[in-house]
Amino acid sequence: MSDGYDPSSEGAQMSFDGRMSYGDYLGLDRILTAQHPLSTAHDEMLFIIQHQTSELWLKLALHEMNAARDRIGAGELQPAFKMLTRVARIMEQLNSAWDVLRTMTPSEYTDFRESLGESSGFQSHQYRLIEFVAGNRNMAMIRPHEHRPELARILTEEIARPSLYDTVLERLRLAGFDIPARERLDQPHQPNDAARMAWAAIYRDPARYWELYELAEKLVDFEDYFRRWRFNHVTTVERIIGFKRGSGGTSGVNYLRRMLDVVLFPDLWELRTEL
Ligand code: HEM
Repeated sequence: MSDGYDPSSEGAQMSFDGRMSYGDYLGLDRILTAQHPLSTAHDEMLFIIQHQTSELWLKLALHEMNAARDRIGAGELQPAFKMLTRVARIMEQLNSAWDVLRTMTPSEYTDFRESLGESSGFQSHQYRLIEFVAGNRNMAMIRPHEHRPELARILTEEIARPSLYDTVLERLRLAGFDIPARERLDQPHQPNDAARMAWAAIYRDPARYWELYELAEKLVDFEDYFRRWRFNHVTTVERIIGFKRGSGGTSGVNYLRRMLDVVLFPDLWELRTEL
């Protein structure tokens, strides 16, 4: 850029007195003043921003998942595919983000660990909501939110609605597959023989069932990236705190390893053995 260049000569708006600026539109004053380290440790800022940015991406993932569920319910699969692709990309983005957190060593974390008290991602209501929307539902996970009735209510209402996967199964029924409805919506999805057989028929004849076939692969993509997130999380946690208890009170790495066994869409994984 040459010396003395003035972008206003090309029309750049330079005066925002009384007009909406970039920072106004994005609410940057609130976002950029929401970091409040409680210690003097240098790395606490990284820890806070890593969590806050993750929560922003989770917010977008929920926005897309809820819209995808509505579109699937309305039989508009193509727009839903685009949304589910975006959700998988968000998970991928969150996966890359671990590389930043991995630069923090155990001693750097120990410098501010006391400041966290008993707070933990375990209490992330957005993470729990993503699990609930997908279909991994567990009433016990609402309890950490009881002190915030408005958040507990969002989770309680979600657990009573058909999940994303329930909505997908409804599409299969409308396509002529005979799949019994779930008796209890507040439970995780269990393997369902009729659904697995329906998916197997779809995978054996993609040309006939192309949209349902594509829908299944979008869900598998989502779960695939979600599993990688869980794996990256547990590996990063082991690298930073070893086998110490979590700040949220669980056994820590052992709890997170157990969560690696969670399967969101068991039918879609089990059908693969049959093909
Ligand atoms: C130094 C970094 C981190 C450590 C040491 C850590 C540690 C842990 C531990 C030990 C747990 C188990 C619950 C507990 O007892 O606390 C947990 C859960 C969780 N953490 Fe992290 N974490 C870290 C970073 C993150 C980040 C950046 C996120 C992004 C939002 C996150 C999200 C979660 C979530 C959602 C859970 C609940 C998982 C479940 O219940 O399946 N964590 N974390």
